[in-house]
Order: sequence, then structure tokens, then C-alpha cells
Amino acid sequence: MKNSLVRLLTVLFALGLFSLRGAAVEMSAAPSPRERLLFDFGWKFHLGNEWGIGQKLDKSGSGRGPASMAFSDASWRPVNLPHDWAIELPFDPRADASHGFRAVGEAFPENSVAWYRRTFELPASDKGRRLWIEVDGAFRDSSIFVNGWIVGHNDSGYGSARYDITDVARCGEKNVVAIQVDATHPEGWFYEGAGIYRHVWLVKTAPVALAPDSVFVYSAFPGNLPTGEATIHLQAQIDNKLKTAAEAEVSWEIFAPDGKSVASAKQSVNAVAGVASDVRQSTTVALPELWSPETPRLYHLTTTVSVAGKAVDQQMIEFGIRTVAFDANRGFLLNGQPYVIKGTCNHQDHAGVGSALPDRLQYFRIGKLKEMGSNAYRTSHNPPTPELLEACDRLGMLVMDENRLLGSDAQHLQWLEDLVRRDRNHPSVVIWSLANEEFNTQATPAGGRTAATMEEKVKMLDPTRQVTANSDLGNVFEGINSAVDVRGWSYHIGVTNMDAYHAAHPTQPNVGSEQGSTVSTRGIYYVDPVRGYVTAYDDNAQNWSNTAEQWWTFFDSRPWLSGGFVWTGFDYRGEPTPYGWPCVNSHFGVYDTCGFAKDNFWYYRAWWTKQPVLHLLPHWNWTGKEGQIIDVRALSNCDEVELFLNQKSLGRLTMKHDSELKWKVPYAPGTLFAKGFKDGKLVIETEVETTGAAAAVHLTPDRATIDADGEDISVITVSIMDAQGRVVPVANNAITFTLDGPGRIIGVGNGDPSCHEPDTFVADPVVVTQPIEGWKTKNVPVNYPETQPELSATFDDSTWSSANLSGNKNTLEANGEGFFRAKLAVTEADLKAPAIELWFGKIIGNATLYVNGVKVADASDGSSASIFEVKSLLHAGENSVAILARTWGPTGGISHGVAWRKISSPAPTQWSRSVFNGLAQIIVQSSKHTGELKLTASANGLKADTITLKTSSVTLPPSVP
Ligand code: GAL
Repeated sequence: MKNSLVRLLTVLFALGLFSLRGAAVEMSAAPSPRERLLFDFGWKFHLGNEWGIGQKLDKSGSGRGPASMAFSDASWRPVNLPHDWAIELPFDPRADASHGFRAVGEAFPENSVAWYRRTFELPASDKGRRLWIEVDGAFRDSSIFVNGWIVGHNDSGYGSARYDITDVARCGEKNVVAIQVDATHPEGWFYEGAGIYRHVWLVKTAPVALAPDSVFVYSAFPGNLPTGEATIHLQAQIDNKLKTAAEAEVSWEIFAPDGKSVASAKQSVNAVAGVASDVRQSTTVALPELWSPETPRLYHLTTTVSVAGKAVDQQMIEFGIRTVAFDANRGFLLNGQPYVIKGTCNHQDHAGVGSALPDRLQYFRIGKLKEMGSNAYRTSHNPPTPELLEACDRLGMLVMDENRLLGSDAQHLQWLEDLVRRDRNHPSVVIWSLANEEFNTQATPAGGRTAATMEEKVKMLDPTRQVTANSDLGNVFEGINSAVDVRGWSYHIGVTNMDAYHAAHPTQPNVGSEQGSTVSTRGIYYVDPVRGYVTAYDDNAQNWSNTAEQWWTFFDSRPWLSGGFVWTGFDYRGEPTPYGWPCVNSHFGVYDTCGFAKDNFWYYRAWWTKQPVLHLLPHWNWTGKEGQIIDVRALSNCDEVELFLNQKSLGRLTMKHDSELKWKVPYAPGTLFAKGFKDGKLVIETEVETTGAAAAVHLTPDRATIDADGEDISVITVSIMDAQGRVVPVANNAITFTLDGPGRIIGVGNGDPSCHEPDTFVADPVVVTQPIEGWKTKNVPVNYPETQPELSATFDDSTWSSANLSGNKNTLEANGEGFFRAKLAVTEADLKAPAIELWFGKIIGNATLYVNGVKVADASDGSSASIFEVKSLLHAGENSVAILARTWGPTGGISHGVAWRKISSPAPTQWSRSVFNGLAQIIVQSSKHTGELKLTASANGLKADTITLKTSSVTLPPSVP
């Protein structure tokens, strides 16, 4: 096992083929008895909730509607996870501005509850194993049913949840999982999406296994200085679900970044039945390769549990060896050295996909943030998606990992514990944040006590990291600020005296946990309140916030502040500050919602990196403004910059550190050109030209070959070019897209904060409903046996009376029982439909349904399904539908109509999106088939562009078939 693991890791690293998902390596590396199967594919989705709550409270295992096993979801739309349905809804000015005006929430009940459903097989060999479904994130309130049983409920939109389904699972048979998600009530004040917007997993373990999130590995050095040998602390818990104790052995093995085994440890444990037994050990790694954003070197730890010499469980964890500390005077220390935090705060929200980011998009966004010189990410204001942290570990990005709400009641402490246990192995995570701007409680004694209790909990679970909270208090120590290790500063430059706070509390470290909130719209240089645009100059602070230059100058000159996190790296939906409708997005981002850089990107890149930077703004397409003064600026880290218009010098200016340069330039079309000097030497040049008219569409994929795993994506930039191939910065053309080949478009965007065009073009299956009429009925004595010829295909019911099942009158007397029969004529053409259902308006009591003499299901009063898929039982011509119905107590039976429904595939949709100031984005996702994808983008009057993307064969992560 050991050798094969080493070999595999070495080969994967050598080939650069290390999967986005650690689990893939785990599974291929060693045939662990543990299976962690991706459960993202093959779901059905239905927006709406005709069935009320799924859980019947009178009897167990009797989930109603979609929660029942017999229910037909044939008319539902197929979806893969992650999925955000809010992004599919229209904008509506009556909707919540802070959530981006999508028609979801209390005012839109019909759009706010939805169901996800899937059938899956469990092999008979799973009998005796522990079976879990893990939902990494569903927004917001979710109830999960398996085989009609409720198996759990989660009312956190951000917490990962784990449901033990061992008792209700059917091994060797078909199983049904249904998840009801209710997004009526938001948690935050920003776009949060709706639906299962993170991965779902099916986990199978032996009865003696590692307890969930119990493996913890951390390193320590004498004096917290990473020299010489690192002590590696190893922890785990063993769950024993057997009836008797098990003598288990836990062994750990550590693999260096090059895949070589470098340390190991062992520990025996008497795993008592029914409890989680702790194991702790330590080992050493000599001269470790240290993790940092610049050197994201990752070690791997395998933890193997054996009973009687046989491995019963194994898990692999990626980790890093490094030290972190916040110091009151020196600021943040990484590996013992002062390290200035150049961070961004972000919500999980991207153009086209909303909150449902494919993993690759996490990497895309972290890559973008690194381009601007950022080294840190605050997961504002909630526990992040696990894959975001993987991206930060692997690409090198520090993380402030933020809890959702301040609270020390059992539920809030449990959510906090879940977060810390889940995320504590990530080297990227360097500090925990307990909460954000709890302005009702943060300065109160109760706020302070609550934070102290939460901090104690964190320290029990993770002795290696400090704790902060983002506080929008000024020079105030009472409450939460006195409880946390590190004072988190939200704005307040110039409003309060931060220096005075530091002088009064000289032993407390500080961090700028939220700064900036500068607003800017990409490519806009004149304020336009009607369309809802601000300028892209670094001029637009709100009354509580600061420009990029203001906050960064302040922090850069005070090392004790540790640097800070700008609000925000990317624009997000909602908080359309400073506007309202028709503006639907925030403007706070250094990047827009697509990840297209706004001009402030260059400010940060200039002062956050050592690369020579010289960027001019605005664009130089000002037809009609000839002779008028244009505000021209250079964002640069050069000592001096000389600006030229059409080869004439407009002067050489000297740059102040952390600042920008400005010229007033009378507009004339042509070329703005600049030279940047350092120490008197020319180091960089740049120019901005007046372009010609839009002539062509151009597509540029971020990656032209993607994995054929059904999850990987290519993020494609759509640019409008002039005849000379220059992006036209004022172009707003409408583009249509077509895609051929094994893949699909999953979203489009353009970064325009006021655009109301759809992000997705999805369609539900087409349902044609036709009533079944001409019912005949015969009352029978109670408890009439079901095995009667009245239910057969050919029974002669001509002597029975007629029944009206389409009214709202009950069709059976109290405690009554009776047969109902009708004929259903279908044609050969009808049978070509992918599915045919029988639909019942209302069943009070119990109804046993037969089609052509074959039993379909038992349906009963709301406790079971009222839609059944029956196509396989039908033939062209006349079919029979026969029902034996019973009531207990009051009158009942079948009413409100019975119909049959032909389900056909939706018509193909036409994807489109306008560009905004020259650019748009389209995201294409692979299927599990290899091949070529051809994407064509066309616009009226412009030359179209077609690109080819390849989807290449990869080892697929283990997933639920
Ligand atoms: C902060 C808050 C953020 C965001 C920001 C906008 O006070 O923490 O979530 O609302 O203001 O400036």
C-alpha cells in the first residue's frame, strides 16, 4: 500500500496531474475501505412546493410528495450540482436590493422553495458499512429525505452537513434521496443564491473508522521560529459502531511535497463501542519545506486504522508546515518574519453561475487575485466552500476563515466547531474570525462574553491560530474587542484614532479585516446615476469608507496593523451601493463580477507587487469631446512617469509612494503614451489608442483543453475588436452563442452592474396534461382484498356507475371503499415521449393504482406520491387504469381530477449576452465525454468567431453512478 501510494503521488506530481480533488488521489492511491463518492450528477430539480413540508409528523418513513419513493420526477429538469436557482430567476424591482433584486424571498413564495431528487443504487456489499450523505452547502433551510425517511435538517445556508443514512438505506436495491431547500429567508445582506450550491458526497466506511473531521495535523517549532526540525502533532478519533470494543491501531505516514515518505507514527487504541476514542501522537520532519503564498509546498498525511492487522479505514489530508502569529508591534508574522497582508474580502458569487461555483472557478478567481498582488482572502461573512480553501492551499493564498454569526448557544457553538474541525488542516487558514460587524452587540458585555466563549471553543479545537472579529467600532475596547486575540478593523480611518487605540492596548495585535469599499464601474469615467454607474477613478469612497489610496497609504505606513483586506476583490450581486434599481450589483470589486480588472487593479498591482507597473486611464475613445479636458491618470510604481499625447510630451511627474499621477489633457483622438522611470532609467512604457469602430467578435478561453469530467470549465472572454484587432472600450454589442460537442454553456455575464439580461438560458421539460375521464365506480365492503379481477386489465365494468373524479367532492363515504376504472387511449406517437405520468389531484385515504393489471403503487393521503411514471406499462391503443380506494374515518377517495401527462425534452435555448465596455464572459463546462467543443459567437454586422476547445480524458473522481 505504502509503495503504491508513494509511486502514485510521485508520478502525479511529476506530471503535474495532481487532481483538483485530493480524494481522487486518496482513492487511487490505496484501496481504502472508505469510499467518498461525488454525488453531483444526475439530479432532478423542481422549483415550487406543491406538497407542503415533506415530512409527515404522524408516522415515520412516510415523507410526502417528492420525499416518497414512488413519486415521479419525470417532469423535473435534470441538473448537476452545484446549482443556484436564484440566478435563473428574473430581476424584479420589488425584490430585495441587497440580494440583487432576484425574484426570490418572502415576496415570491412560488420561487423560494425547491426540490432536488435522485435515485441511486447501493450494492448489496454495502450492508454492514456506515453510510453518510454529506451536503457541503445548501442555501438556505434544507430537509433531506432518504427512502421516505427524514434523515436531517439544516437551517444554516453556509454550514456543511453530514447525514447518517445507514439505518434507512436499502443495500442491493434502489434508493431515493430528496432534498427540499427553502430560500425564503436570507441570512446576509448580499446575494446568497438558492439551492444546493456546493458538492454533495456519499461516504461509506467500515463500522470502525475515523470519526468525521477528526484527523488534525499541525506543526510546531521551538519559539515558533521555523528552523531545523518541525514537530508534527497528529490527532484523530476512532468511531466504533460495533457492539463490542475493538483493538485498533492508527498509523500515520507523512509524504513530502515530492511524494517521498518522510515520517511516520503509530498508536494503539482500545476503541470502545459506541464512543469516539481519541488518539494523539507526534513525529518530526527535519528541515521541512515551508508553506507560504509564494511557496505553497504541500505535504500529505495518510491516517490508517487497522483492526486485527487489516486496514479498515484510511484518509489522506493535504497540509502545510509553517508558523503564523499576529504580533502587537510587528504585525502578521509568517514563518517568523513580518509579512504584510494584502488581502481581499469576497462573497462566493460569480457572473453566470451565482453562488454555484465549479471548483475550477475558485482557482480562476484565486489566480486573478494573485495577479493583483493579493496574498490573502477573507471568507466574508460565512464558512467557505471547502474547494476554495483547497485552491488557496495549492495556489498560495492566506485565509481569514469567517464564522457566520456571533452566538454561544449550543447550535451556534456547534456550527463554529464544525467550521474549525473542517478547515483546521488547511495551511492557508491563518486566523479565525468569529463574526462580522455585530453592531447590535459588539460593544456590550454580552457580546464580549459570547466572543470569549466562542474563542475558548476554537482554542480547544485548534491551539495554533489566533482569533479575531471584524469590528466596525472605533477606539472602543469594551465587548468583543476585549475578548478576541487580534483587533479586527472595519473602516474608521480618519473617523477614530486608531493610533490612540494601539497606544492604549499595546499588547493586542491588529489587522485591517475590512477596508476600502471604494466603488468603481469598469470602463466608466463619467458618473451616470440613471444607468447606475460610478467612475472607475479611485475617487469614490462612501461616507464610511475610503479610496484604495487612502486606506492603503494609512496601513502601509503602520506595520503594527498587519496590512488588511480590501472590500472587495470581486463585485458581487446585491448591495448596489451607491444606487438602487436598475443597478443590481455591488461596485466594490477591484474586479467586476466576471473577473475583468477595473482600473484599481493596477493601483494594487503597482503597490502590492514588485513588477514594474504602468497603466493609463481612461480609454481614449471620446468622439464628440474633442478639445474638452479629460482627467488622465497613471497607476504605476515608477519613480517618475512622462505622458505624451500624439507624441507631444505633457510633462514628467514624480510619483508619491502608494499614490497615482494626474494630468488634465484636452482630448484629441490618437495615442496616449507613457514612459515609466525608476532610478532615472526607463523601465516600462504603455499606450492607449483611439480605436476604430467595432468590427469583429473575438473569443479567448482561459484554458483551451479541459478535463472531460463533467465539472471542469473553460472561462472564455468575449471581446469586441476594431479592424486592427484592438478591443473597442465602448462597445456594447449583443452577442449570441452556439456550442456543439460534448459540453454545455453554464453561464454568461459582462460585469455591467445594471444589466438585466439573463445569466442562464435553461428550460424545463415540456409537460402536456390531458384529463382522464369516463370513470366507472363500484363500492365494496371494507377491507376488500386487493387481489380481485376488478383491478385486472380487461375487467368488464359496464354495469358500474359513473364517477366524477374531477370535482372537489369526495368520492367515497366515511369508512368507504370502492373501485374506480377508466380507459386511457395512447398512440404510438405518445409512446415516443421520454416519460408518461399519471397525476392525481387529491387522494384522501389510500389508493392502490393498477395500470393494465400491473400494480404501480400505493398512494395515500399526502403521505405518498400523487404522480407516477407509467410509460413502461402502456401500449398503443386502449389501456386500463384501475384503482382500489379506501378511506378511514371521514369521507374521502379521489377528487380534483386525474390526468395523464406526456413529458418531452425542452426545446433548445439560445444563449446570448451583450458585451459591456468591450467585454463579456461565457463559461463552458465539459461532459464526461472526450472530444471537441466548438463555440461560436456572433453579433449583427460583426465578423463572428469560432473556437475549438478540447475535452481530454482524465481519471474521473469516484462518483455515485
Ligand atoms: C460593511 C459590511 C460588508 C459590506 C460593506 C459595504 O460594513 O461588513 O458586508 O456591506 O460594509 O461597504
